[in-house]
Amino acid sequence: MNSVKVGLLGLGTVGQGTARVLSDNASEIARRAGRHIQVVSAAVRDVEKAEAQGFNITILTDPQAIVDDPEIDIVCELMGGIDLPLSLVLRAIDNGKHVITANKALIALHGNQIFAAAAKKGVTVAFEPAVAGGIPVIKAIREGLAANNIQWLAGIINGTGNFILTEMRNHGRDFEDVLADAQALGYAEADPTFDVEGIDAAHKLSILASIAFGIPLQFDAVYTEGISEITSKDVAYADELGYSVKHLGIARKSEEGVQMRVHPTLIPKSRLIANVDGVMNAVLVQSDAVGPTLYYGAGAGSDATASAVVADVIDVVRLLSAAPENSVPYLAFQPNELRDLTVLPPEKIVSAYYLRLQAEDKPGVMADVTRILADQGVSLKSILQKKPEGEETAEVILLTHRVEESSMNAAIDQIGALATITDKVQRIRVEALD
Ligand code: NDP
Ligand code: HSE
Repeated sequence: MNSVKVGLLGLGTVGQGTARVLSDNASEIARRAGRHIQVVSAAVRDVEKAEAQGFNITILTDPQAIVDDPEIDIVCELMGGIDLPLSLVLRAIDNGKHVITANKALIALHGNQIFAAAAKKGVTVAFEPAVAGGIPVIKAIREGLAANNIQWLAGIINGTGNFILTEMRNHGRDFEDVLADAQALGYAEADPTFDVEGIDAAHKLSILASIAFGIPLQFDAVYTEGISEITSKDVAYADELGYSVKHLGIARKSEEGVQMRVHPTLIPKSRLIANVDGVMNAVLVQSDAVGPTLYYGAGAGSDATASAVVADVIDVVRLLSAAPENSVPYLAFQPNELRDLTVLPPEKIVSAYYLRLQAEDKPGVMADVTRILADQGVSLKSILQKKPEGEETAEVILLTHRVEESSMNAAIDQIGALATITDKVQRIRVEALD
């Protein structure tokens, strides 16, 4: 079968990531999509700069040539702006092409018009990368939560803003200084006031509110405050009081109507979402059947956003044919592409461990324990000893570095057999998940 041909409008941060991910993961993507996917061309302003990226694709300065190219099946709009992308997207749709866009401003302001045009032409418009970068939150809400009545959602949905607030809190850095870093890292919008004044988050919130509550896109109805007035002092005081300052987008449905607002917010540090730092984003969704669910991941950046662009491309490719084998496969991969990979036994797990020992408080106990661990090749990360008042025995808490579970099992058996250890050794695996 012929490969599916993709044209990119833009080869900047997101465009390059998209070309790279499609090329690096080509065979795995073909296993999922059922067809090979090939980027054939990209439109930019500066051809020399784009050619220096070394992608084996045609580079053009005329984006219209891509949307008019009969060879191209899918157009990815990754250039930003409003008027030009709107006319290009509408023209691509009119030419019968499927469209993916990362442009939240375009969807928030003109989505209603674009979706109507796509429906008329029978093509798909997908926009997962437009909200929360690489997090598949559109899919989660639209498909995964389809059974629920969604009551509210709250999200950290601008990576640049969260990166700035985190750096201010952790390192007391100046606002402007951190913003310059976010721009250099490719996180910020072409006009960074969109990030710091909350406009970008408001674009995204209006999209989330629409798919959560089934309402038309209405960006103008979002109350918007940015983070430009927040100082390092505010962040430090909030921290001392047990709160994190986060820039939140909140959409809530009640009998009275729908609320949509974006503003800086203090959140108790005990909340998971308060600990979402740096460029990471998170969206917490409260629904009636499942209760709260939380979606977390990189909110901006080249490959992270490309992950969402390419996922949309794959969805479109699966839909290109109406044959059932080309719809979303039940087990994610095409049925004939499932592979019998070996499932490892638990002894082969490699993990760090938390151990809690109940030990007699006398000389030599720790020496015995550490000798056993050393013999099994277990390296210690930290040790804590507690002896509550009036207790005969001490509690020893050990954190180890990563080691194979078979070695840890052997060490635990030997430690548990020591006469000075008075209770079962408590073992909990520790995962940094980094
Ligand atoms: P960049 O500025 O890095 O890239 C924009 C690309 O579009 C460049 O290749 C640029 O070419 C090209 N371009 C812009 N205007 C024109 C034009 N008139 N004609 C031809 N080519 C043009 O932007 P990003 O990749 O960061 O962002 C792209 C889109 O993705 C935006 O809508 C943004 O909001 C969205 N987005 C960005 C994320 C991120 O992490 N950066 C995350 C999620 C969404 P040249 O370089 O030659 O000027
Ligand atoms: N400028 C945006 C952000 C890019 O920082 O979140 C991702 O949409």
